[in-house]
Amino acid sequence: MDVKLKLLNEDTIYEHLFERYSFLQKHAESLKQDLGIVSRSDASLELNFEPPDKKTCHRAETFSFELSQSLSALNSSQDNSNSTTGYVVWTTTPFFLQWLLYSEAGRIFTIGGSIDCEDEPSSSTCEIPAMFSSSSIEIEDQQFHQVIELGCGVCGILGIALGNYVDKYVYTDQKALLNRLKNNIAHNIDELRLRNVTSTTLGFDSRRKTPLQIQIDVLSLDWETFNANPTKIDSLLKPNRTANVSIVSMDVVYNEYLIEPYLKTLSSLLEYYERMGHVPNALLGIQLRDQDVVERFLECAIIDYHLKVYVIMDPVIEVTRFGLYYIKLQ
Ligand SMILES: C[S@@+](CC[C@H](N)C(=O)[O-])C[C@H]1O[C@@H](n2cnc3c(N)ncnc32)[C@H](O)[C@@H]1O
Repeated sequence: MDVKLKLLNEDTIYEHLFERYSFLQKHAESLKQDLGIVSRSDASLELNFEPPDKKTCHRAETFSFELSQSLSALNSSQDNSNSTTGYVVWTTTPFFLQWLLYSEAGRIFTIGGSIDCEDEPSSSTCEIPAMFSSSSIEIEDQQFHQVIELGCGVCGILGIALGNYVDKYVYTDQKALLNRLKNNIAHNIDELRLRNVTSTTLGFDSRRKTPLQIQIDVLSLDWETFNANPTKIDSLLKPNRTANVSIVSMDVVYNEYLIEPYLKTLSSLLEYYERMGHVPNALLGIQLRDQDVVERFLECAIIDYHLKVYVIMDPVIEVTRFGLYYIKLQ
């Protein structure tokens, strides 16, 4: 297994970024130089996911999505005062989904396990809690598995694909784009084949021939105003019983003004779940654009918010323009 984690500290942030950005520079000709929008010309697009090698891959399921996005809303400045970036699909999300479902390293994050960790000057192993439930139907005494997505945008593909394997999935983003997100979820709900779907916010349930259940909901959650006080926290964010809670965020580190509100939201959610006796952790995918923004983000997360930030060092990720980080409380 080639995957390793590297725990960053206030000294190793710079070495990590130097190595990543030197690689990107060296391979500038073969790596796409665009901003990272999946399609800048199509209002509807198709995304397919399948194992790279069907004979050897641990997962056989394939997924096919038809998505609608709004290039005009992306370019409008009035509709949404904070950000209009979520109206289109960004490449970090399909990359992460393909990696999580089908790569050997992604598999450890889905079923849980230990990964070697470089924690300078020594090394150790890090225990990763499972994001996915076991597919056994004797679910009564099993841990509950919940995923919260921050800054999900309109595409909805993570919740539908991962919804096949977890007990509860909550999409969150700014209010203005949630209707378009709901339309994409409804349009693609047949790709959630392995569980019965219930929802209080989508306006429909979906029956399958299995006793397994998933609750999927969509919640307006703005990092600028979020309050994780237990008396204020939205009931949709609460797991039904003791849970592994994975907070996933794809391509939400791109603007230095959003770093602080995003990290305040993330760390207060992690603290809330831990205080309530759950097992929280976070997975963050960053499209490596402006080095200063990523540097500021890592400094703020590690020095100001005292979060443990691990780089996922996997040859599959290293040859791309993405960075994947595993984050937890100290
Ligand atoms: C670059 S887009 C990525 C969208 C989606 N994750 C994807 O990969 O396609 C950044 C996302 O962060 C969300 N965002 C920006 N500011 C936010 C805020 N203050 N609160 C919540 N979400 C925010 C945007 O609405 C948008 O969906």
